[in-house]
Amino acid sequence: GYLIKMDPLVAAIDQGTSSTRFLVFNAKTAELISHHQVEINQSFPKEGWVEEDPREIMQSVHECIERTCEKLCKLNIDVSNIKAVGVTNQRETTLVWDKDTGEPLYNAIVWLDLRTQSTVERLINKAPGRNKNHLRHKTGLPISTYFSAVKLRWLLDNVDEVHEAFLSQRAMFGTVDSWIIWCLTGGKNGGVHCTDVSNASRTMLFNIHTMDWDPELCRYFDIPMEILPSVRSSSEIYGWMVSSDTPHSTLCCLGDQSAALVGQMCFNEGQAKNTYGTGCFLLRNTGTKPVISDHGLLTTVAYKLGKDEPACYALEGSVAIAGAVVRWLKDNMGMVQSSSEIEKLAAAVGTSYGCYFVPAFSGLYAPYWEPSARGIICGLTQFTNRNHLAFAALEAVCFQTREILDAMNQDSGVPLTQLKVDGGMTSNRLLMQLQADILCIPVVRPTMSETTALGVAMAAGAAEGVGVWSLSPGQLPHVTSERYEPQINPEESEYRFARWKKAVQKAMNWETT
Ligand code: G3P
Repeated sequence: GYLIKMDPLVAAIDQGTSSTRFLVFNAKTAELISHHQVEINQSFPKEGWVEEDPREIMQSVHECIERTCEKLCKLNIDVSNIKAVGVTNQRETTLVWDKDTGEPLYNAIVWLDLRTQSTVERLINKAPGRNKNHLRHKTGLPISTYFSAVKLRWLLDNVDEVHEAFLSQRAMFGTVDSWIIWCLTGGKNGGVHCTDVSNASRTMLFNIHTMDWDPELCRYFDIPMEILPSVRSSSEIYGWMVSSDTPHSTLCCLGDQSAALVGQMCFNEGQAKNTYGTGCFLLRNTGTKPVISDHGLLTTVAYKLGKDEPACYALEGSVAIAGAVVRWLKDNMGMVQSSSEIEKLAAAVGTSYGCYFVPAFSGLYAPYWEPSARGIICGLTQFTNRNHLAFAALEAVCFQTREILDAMNQDSGVPLTQLKVDGGMTSNRLLMQLQADILCIPVVRPTMSETTALGVAMAAGAAEGVGVWSLSPGQLPHVTSERYEPQINPEESEYRFARWKKAVQKAMNWETT
């Protein structure tokens, strides 16, 4: 058969904590044409450690691209219609590889990893006034195990191969975006070593005002600047994909939470979205000026859509464990066979029956930033069963979102009147209704749930020299959505939230009280 010449296509590689996807969109209509997804293994070699294999990450990227291209061929669609590929990724996850052999020198240390807790405590103790916000004026971030700088420090200190490669000038550092782009643009044969401003702003080595790596921050963490990638805007051509099995397209990147903000078309100051993935991340666009939070939120570079465009900033509330609590109930507790069963279990009872579950597996992130917090389940009685526990797990995701939304409202002084949501968990209708009930505002979810991928595909398609997508307000794709209205009375909601907060206090101090 002949191949259909059609509207230009743009694609996204979405490399998240739990899975990798390749998705192809029509650049005129934003319609999702085809996609493929592969799960990623996580390893937990010691308590609190979380690693992924960089080779497996690349294999999953290739597999997703190949399978999707096969599907396109079956649809008689010419793969060469793909004009640009955007990479969007789990942020902060840290890798070091050898530029001569092209091989990773250690596993990727995943953002959730807690191995640097003692380093973080030491850094905070030596900061003036033991202030964890000592570097916030430059980075927008508290000193925490979450960000890349401490993970990279750990690699240089503890992995001989990394240290030796650094001494012989063979070491390259990158977050997942850099690793994928370097590999896809040729790897050891001339791969492009770069990242974008949104990913760089999560390393703690990047100055969010000067928009560059900061020598003082690098000295603080004792990180050699020569191993850092160059920093680009989130919408420009970094290079071309070279391997024979992939479309010959241009590449650029955007951190996954930033991509979701773009995919939800939150281009104006005050617009916000919450994405439910492994963790949960609420970002509010604050325009071209960084706003420093008084309530435990991060200040982050949201995006810079073109070399000569201004950077846009966001306030971010990060929750470490959202979808991961369901995966834990499945993998560690064997409570369900597949994640989607959780909704049925919880719906069968429709209440936690007074049980509260604080999944502080990686400490607590926003607004507490307490690495020593640990998970607890409390309020159990003889009556409690796994249905109640499933409900409590879903409620925990909603309560954590309520905490970051409250912080966001306090910081901005202008409360959100509805919450735009996206991400894998939003297909859980019970969760969406529960979220509206706990926030006491409507929750709005796009019917096409691949918002993160759409966002980076838009950024890639809009790059100068590609130009198949326009980001001007009048020309944005139209998306349909579904709305959940709060159904319980606010007093009931407040009562439950107050009990949740009590449970959080226990998770924070469980060793001392
Ligand atoms: O900061 C971590 C975040 O980027 C990970 O996102 O979707 O993998 O939970 P996700």
